[in-house]
Amino acid sequence: MEKITVQVPATSANCGPGFDSLGLALELYNIFTFTPDETATVNKYTFSGFDAETLAKEDQSQNLVGQAMGAVFQKANTEPVYGLIHSETVIPPSRGLGSSSTAIVAGLLLANRLLSKPLTAHDLLVLANDIEGHPDNVAPALLGNLVCAVNHPNELLYTTVALPEELLFAVVVPEVSVSTEYARSVLPKMIAHKEAVANVSHATLFVTALLQHKLDYLRIALEDYLHVPYRKTLIPHCDEVFNAALKAGAYGATISGSGSTLIAYCPRSTAQTVANRMGDVFNTNNIPCRTYVLKADTMGARYV
Ligand code: HSE
Repeated sequence: MEKITVQVPATSANCGPGFDSLGLALELYNIFTFTPDETATVNKYTFSGFDAETLAKEDQSQNLVGQAMGAVFQKANTEPVYGLIHSETVIPPSRGLGSSSTAIVAGLLLANRLLSKPLTAHDLLVLANDIEGHPDNVAPALLGNLVCAVNHPNELLYTTVALPEELLFAVVVPEVSVSTEYARSVLPKMIAHKEAVANVSHATLFVTALLQHKLDYLRIALEDYLHVPYRKTLIPHCDEVFNAALKAGAYGATISGSGSTLIAYCPRSTAQTVANRMGDVFNTNNIPCRTYVLKADTMGARYV
């Protein structure tokens, strides 16, 4: 059996008002390789890139690639195949760019290819959603583009929307770690009806503004009442970074996933300046950060 390699894009979930529902894929990729070993009875793991040394010391029974591969073998009702799993982490982990989702999606695709693809993309997405608990990172990681997903008790429904070519993303990743679990724990149990109505209107406007290329609407469309106001408190200088992005010419800005990454939606002409100005806010406050200017990924996870 030959080795199999898959690359999986970073994702920016929530997209402002679309908590646990909207997510888009970005052209930044983690790469995973599986080398089967018919004599092995457990997987071995190696790592390169971000946090490689820490990852190598973790309990490998919790490794998401291995867990996702196991889910495919179980679903396909076949004996597991073990081997060497190498993860090359290019996407900053635990920063709201869907790095964990890339591991889940990779494991599913690696095992599915190994078994000559018994599972459909829809089957894989359902498995990914079961493992992650919400679809807004795993869906765009698998499918690319913007994904609108509904995690209905009876069925997982989703649509994909191609993003306008003129749209770029200025992404700033501060050295502030926010676990998704903690970022979910700070959310209120109840919100006011008026705020719920605002979120429905903003999420609807967000998707339709992208479809109709009314990108000036993104500033209001990205406003959120479900999570951003609560999570801002976990990210120092968040409002200053948003203001710097708007001043430098972004259409709008929000928290990526559960943070700490902040993402601005920009016209091509301003994206690099927007990223620089956002980064300046962290740098002048002595918080190291990385900045990226990224396009939307249009293909989703793929074998390479
Ligand atoms: N929708 C999830 C959250 C995304 O905001 O908690 C986590 O990346």
